[in-house]
Amino acid sequence: MKIENDLILRAARGESVERTPVWMMRQAGRILPEYREVRSKLSGFIELVETPELAAEVTLQPVHLLGVDAAIIFSDILVIPQAMGCAYQMIEQKGPWFENTIRSQADLKSLHIADPASDLAFVTDAIRIAKKELNNRVPLIGFAGAPWTIMAYMTEGSGSKTFSVARKILYTEPAFAHKLLGMITESTIAYLKAQVEAGADMLQIFDSWAGILSPALYEEFSLPYIKQICEAIDEVPVTVFAKGAFFARELLGKLPCRTIGLDWNMDILESRKLLGPDKTLQGNLDPCLLYADHETIRNSTIEMLKAFGPNKHIANLGHGVYPDTDPDSVRVFIETVKTYRHS
Ligand code: CP3
Repeated sequence: MKIENDLILRAARGESVERTPVWMMRQAGRILPEYREVRSKLSGFIELVETPELAAEVTLQPVHLLGVDAAIIFSDILVIPQAMGCAYQMIEQKGPWFENTIRSQADLKSLHIADPASDLAFVTDAIRIAKKELNNRVPLIGFAGAPWTIMAYMTEGSGSKTFSVARKILYTEPAFAHKLLGMITESTIAYLKAQVEAGADMLQIFDSWAGILSPALYEEFSLPYIKQICEAIDEVPVTVFAKGAFFARELLGKLPCRTIGLDWNMDILESRKLLGPDKTLQGNLDPCLLYADHETIRNSTIEMLKAFGPNKHIANLGHGVYPDTDPDSVRVFIETVKTYRHS
């Protein structure tokens, strides 16, 4: 069925658009009082993720309340480790925590390849409900973590500034790392295909911890697995967001995906040159800019739009919106993109 506002899909495919489409990473979340209201009635974040009706409800909130051009299914990248047998908790004010880490060949025995039908039905159910409630108003984005970023959490056991446990394993136990990455990749492909089957119109792969690897490690332990995922998905356009991977832009430009996400450290014109003319680019306003006054937000957004040009661009922030951002400042960013016309 035809989606009324399909600007994002057309921009992703490289087709010309009347105006630049816009959404925000982490748009479904704590910036909205309406999200916090739903969340406050539950035991925690994971209960929200695993309750399809409520996950679908908060998925739609930014479409209704902020006017973004796409919804992103409310979930987390850490549902994959859990589906493989490595459960996580989300500790208030602290972030993710894994009771059992995966650090050696022996630990692999506790894992299995995720079966989306049995291990991740709460996500595909949420997608089906969200699609129905969206009623073809805007596209729905599905997502997963990149294998390296998922491995980083499974081995480290929590968030970290350096992920030195995870990174150490790449040097000391490379064969084990490749085995784990292979299992995550296989699980992720099955998971993303199930998301598409449930109704996801496009997909994003988050490599949030790309930037802590050296170029050589990135080329060996992250890119090949992202490539495998891109090769396996030909049903819908795929976006790869490798945060901090400025050093790998030429290689990212060669991935068989449609869109590459840029963070705010990446110069727009330089990125276009390194990535080549074919890819659609997504990004890349500094999320901190939304703490500035409205005039500054407007001017910087227009500057960004001019640098990207009229086509092959999906406007976004360079990373997720920070939870204490004023929703009115977010609206200024979104409205500026939606009213701007390239002359
Ligand atoms: O709106 C959306 O973008 C959809 C939902 C979404 C969430 N997490 C919800 C969430 C998405 C796409 C993610 C992806 C995700 N999760 C990433 C990749 C993107 C990135 O930020 O780099 C990562 C690394 C995670 C892991 C994760 N989840 C961490 C480190 C944390 C704790 C930090 C924090 O922001 O609190 C989470 C929790 C989380 N995931 C929240 C939300 C709305 C906050 C939890 C809450 O409501 O209490």
